[in-house]
Amino acid sequence: MMKATMVQRAVEGLTLFAARILNTVVVVLVKMHSTWSPSSSAAAEDDDDDNDTGYGLSWRLAVEANNVGPWQTVPARCYRHVQKYIMEGQYQNDVQLIADQILNYAREIPLSSDGFDAWVFDVDDTCISNINYYKTLRFGCDAFDKVKFKEWITKGACPAIPSVLKVFNTLTEKGFKVFLLTGRDQAILGNITTRNLHSQGFTAYYRLILRQGEYKGESVSKYKSEKRKEIEREGYRIWGNVGDQWSDLQGYSLGNRTFKLPNPMYFIA
Ligand SMILES: *[C@@H]1O[C@H](CO)[C@@H](O)[C@H](O)[C@H]1NC(C)=O
Ligand SMILES: *[C@@H]1O[C@H](CO)[C@@H](O)[C@H](O)[C@H]1NC(C)=O
Ligand SMILES: *[C@@H]1O[C@H](CO)[C@@H](O)[C@H](O)[C@H]1NC(C)=O
Ligand SMILES: [Mg+2]
Repeated sequence: MMKATMVQRAVEGLTLFAARILNTVVVVLVKMHSTWSPSSSAAAEDDDDDNDTGYGLSWRLAVEANNVGPWQTVPARCYRHVQKYIMEGQYQNDVQLIADQILNYAREIPLSSDGFDAWVFDVDDTCISNINYYKTLRFGCDAFDKVKFKEWITKGACPAIPSVLKVFNTLTEKGFKVFLLTGRDQAILGNITTRNLHSQGFTAYYRLILRQGEYKGESVSKYKSEKRKEIEREGYRIWGNVGDQWSDLQGYSLGNRTFKLPNPMYFIA
């Protein structure tokens, strides 16, 4: 009787032991399989993506802080990062935060009744967007094409940047004189630019200044500085100056505060 029970227990014990070994073997096999299977290369791609996301963030921070010297194209490894940034909402969120800052600042300004309180806005990728064009250049990873860009601009189809349109309307309603200051050529693009701006709701500006005459071929910062200086000479107080390029916000007669909108797609000196 006792002997039978001991044998039975020994058998049970061995069975349990064998089951545990089998279990361990299965777990090891599953792990080995996952290391060798195609899903592991997907995991490696994820690592690459993460790596480039990190690099993309660093690149973007560096260009926004103007720590990258004149640059021609976005590094290829930033393509997916910049694409996501522009297309999946973060760009719009970043513009919105700056729009809020502009309005907070504008709220505190003691507006005079003389009608000489002014604001300067850049046009391209400040008021209206060229993202649809830059999509065709892999968000700036491919080289800028002057001819194709002119074709795009000439359609007059740049959409408004919604947060900026709201700021523009709020400022003009408050009584600021808004000057739109663009490097676009007056003779070639004057009419289409006006039409594009109007079609997108930018109607209440005080003056649209386009590039002409002696300023053709001049650097943006020199041309825009000179134009802002002229505005000041007319007696206007430039309270704010908004642009997506550092060259919009450098030089002289800058205005009391400058606001840099994000643009990781291109750089204009
Ligand atoms: C991540 O980026 C660094 C810097 O360019 C590079 O040296 C490294 O090989 C990359 N790692 C992966 C997993 O791609
Ligand atoms: C622009 O429009 C004005 C009138 O609105 C017209 O006189 C002028 O010829 C146009 N210029 C071009 C380049 O189309
Ligand atoms: C705005 O800037 C002008 C020109 O630099 C300066 O004279 C003026 O004091 C500034 N106003 C304020 C409120 O900072
Ligand atoms: Mg611009």
